[in-house]
Amino acid sequence: MAHARGHFTSRFGFLMAAAGSAIGLGNIWGFPTQAASNGGGAFVLAYFILAFLLAYPALMAELIIGRHSNANIVTALSTLSDRPLLRRVGGMVGYYGVLVVSLILSFYAIVAGWILAKFAAPLMQLLGFEAGAGWLAQSGLVRDLSACFVFSLMTVWIVARGVSQGIEAWSTRLMPTLAILLLALIVYVLNQPGAAEGLRVYLLPDFSRVLDPSLLLSAMGQAFFSLSLGVGTMLVYGSYLGRALSERDRQDKLPHIGATLTLLDTSFAFVAGLLIIPAMYVAQAQGIAIYGAAGELLAGPGLVLQVLPSLFDNMGNAGVWLAMTFFALMTIAALTSSISMLEAPVSVVTEKSGAPRTRVTMMIGGIIFLISAIIVMNFAALFDGVVSFTTEFSQPLLGLALCLFAGWVWHRDKKIQALAAQQGIERQGIFWRIWPFYVRIICPLLILVTFMQSLRV
Ligand code: PFF
Repeated sequence: MAHARGHFTSRFGFLMAAAGSAIGLGNIWGFPTQAASNGGGAFVLAYFILAFLLAYPALMAELIIGRHSNANIVTALSTLSDRPLLRRVGGMVGYYGVLVVSLILSFYAIVAGWILAKFAAPLMQLLGFEAGAGWLAQSGLVRDLSACFVFSLMTVWIVARGVSQGIEAWSTRLMPTLAILLLALIVYVLNQPGAAEGLRVYLLPDFSRVLDPSLLLSAMGQAFFSLSLGVGTMLVYGSYLGRALSERDRQDKLPHIGATLTLLDTSFAFVAGLLIIPAMYVAQAQGIAIYGAAGELLAGPGLVLQVLPSLFDNMGNAGVWLAMTFFALMTIAALTSSISMLEAPVSVVTEKSGAPRTRVTMMIGGIIFLISAIIVMNFAALFDGVVSFTTEFSQPLLGLALCLFAGWVWHRDKKIQALAAQQGIERQGIFWRIWPFYVRIICPLLILVTFMQSLRV
């Protein structure tokens, strides 16, 4: 039996859900340290320019394909053209995207589990459960598996409730909370000794560093990961926009919505830097090491799981609250991203099989948790490999395929052009004059360059 497709009830709801997908661990523990170690303000500027010149057109490719096909990534890509070969290739690209996003979720949920445990530890301490707090604070097989399981359960629970009641409702609650927590932490941290040095390192531009091409390429990779591109999450979110947009106004506001989303994501990354980098220098002022063996600023797990927790430990009672607030912030950022990842395979399977959403969500969530468990149990052998296969190798390749589909297949399709005209889509604006060329030629070429680069590393 076919079920009615879910949809977002308002443009704001869509924006919160899509911003929730984009704003995640990539913004908080990826961007700030990259910026601080690669030319500070100059990197920030380069990142903004790349995000708008390259990631934004690719984001539009996904949103437009989704919005106009009204379907999941597999159905959307396999019905864009009438040519059998293109339909088959489209379907294969779609399934590859589903595989990749499921694997991204499998490692993301492990990291999110660590963070959830770090949030629960100070909470237990406050409640007087010292032993439980100690167990949660220390990494170990059982703790990591249990925390990953609880996080996966939260993701499944939200997605099972559907697009408007689950994804939209929770994103509209969680995203403003995220912004408030971030601002509160920034105000606190900027008033601590050492913070000013962090601000200087983060913001003072060193233009000599940004001219390094490999740096620009890694900034582009970061922009693609941060905007959740290539794997069909933005495509399926775009497909749930239909009603929220066309009932309100006849003009297509998609280019504007996409630009707002890019701005939200990049600004959040920038503002997260105002917390993370000063916090690292506050830690340094208290004698905590913030540079690795090779003299590089600690990033990733070293930063989030060592430097910041040591800083909180040093701060006594205030530190317990700070730790809880910081890890609540990270958990929320991870959760709104992971629900968008789970929605991609769930939308494919529910729409293809007609099976009930709850059952499909539990089944797919279960399979992805099993993959996470296999990775946790073979961490050294698998973790890094899965991260680079998905984010460095597959995401650019899929981004490239989606640009080609939007630029060459969709744009040429007469039927869809007629439909667009019927819906009164505004094609005269500057966006529609530039974007088709961009997405056909420039984006694919530049993505290809990044891809080659990632193969060489
Ligand atoms: N954009 C998320 C982040 O910056 O953490 C990560 C992500 C979410 C990647 C959703 C891919 C995806 F489909």
